[in-house]
Amino acid sequence: MQKINAAITAVGGYVPEYRLTNAILETMVDTNDEWIKSRTGVEERRILKGEGLGSSDLGAPAVLELCKKRGISPEEIDCLICATVTPDMVFPATANIICDKVGAVNAFSFDIGAACSGFLFALTTGASFIESGRYKKVVVVGVDKMSSIIDYSDRATCIIFGDGAGAVLLEVDTEGFGVLDSILKSDGSGRQYLHLKAGGSVKPASVESVLAKEHYVYQEGQAVFKFAVKGMADVSWELMERNNLTADDIAWLVPHQANLRIIDATANRMGLPKEKVMINIQKYGNTTAATLPLCLWEWEKRLNKGDNIILAAFGGGFTWGATWLRWAYNS
Ligand code: UT7
Repeated sequence: MQKINAAITAVGGYVPEYRLTNAILETMVDTNDEWIKSRTGVEERRILKGEGLGSSDLGAPAVLELCKKRGISPEEIDCLICATVTPDMVFPATANIICDKVGAVNAFSFDIGAACSGFLFALTTGASFIESGRYKKVVVVGVDKMSSIIDYSDRATCIIFGDGAGAVLLEVDTEGFGVLDSILKSDGSGRQYLHLKAGGSVKPASVESVLAKEHYVYQEGQAVFKFAVKGMADVSWELMERNNLTADDIAWLVPHQANLRIIDATANRMGLPKEKVMINIQKYGNTTAATLPLCLWEWEKRLNKGDNIILAAFGGGFTWGATWLRWAYNS
């Protein structure tokens, strides 16, 4: 029997219209365009405006676009996995809500929380469902409405993050395309450097927690930076080594868009020139679980069947990892 791989067969994406530029941020906090660009690479981020809108409102259009491109009905989706740290609500899962909004009435669905590595963890999970032979169409969504957990008076974090969503469809492949290998890692002792202090079971929401601004992202940037540079570069290199891949074999690196300097360090370690690295951090900032599928969405037309692609991420937890896949179609 031929080995079943999980191939990406369609990509969807969605970013909200409103652009929060560096110039606007200069009027909100003590910062400047030059500092933000040189330290992070971000020029603007998209923000979802409007009462009552959440991550599912970003994820649903991405899933609908993917279905349209592939010519399938949402009813054909067997399973939908949503990676997010900004769920619509603590429960039910945002994946459940996305399914309801798109009409994926036959799918079972659940969320995965692995912060900026969420999409990679969800992709590997979704791929396993396909590889098992039990499911034919699995949708993996990476979405975050980071603006819902960002303190716009904290210049250390508000300059980095943005809102967005990306989604991929996984289907059966028996010709050697699709997800070929993954290395995923986590280390919960890193939680001290990047977390949300309140709103969970340790510290439920209270008047005090709101007044102390404990429902916003807490990040010790320098510490996270050091771990991220090492973690993302090491794991990408490890994945190349164990699959005997050289820089020449790799068509694209799809790195988590947290900081241009982390991306450069990873590409350098892999020996990849800039032309092979997907970078859109200048337009969207760090959209957490959405960065990787948003890159695939944006570069889709430039991808060729057979391209070897490495996706790499690092995020809160800590969580990190890299995935090797062989692209399965020409657009
Ligand atoms: O995706 C999840 C994982 N997260 C990451 O990977 C983020 C990793 N960390 C980073 O990307 C960087 O650490 C940041 C972009 C968050 C910060 O850059 P940095 O080069 O590490 O800056 P820093 O925190 O060391 O701050 C340097 C200086 C400080 O001033 P002093 O103490 O040197 O006078 C800060 O107060 O820059 C100051 N600063 C700013 N200045 C202007 C901090 N934020 C700003 C700002 N505008 N927005």
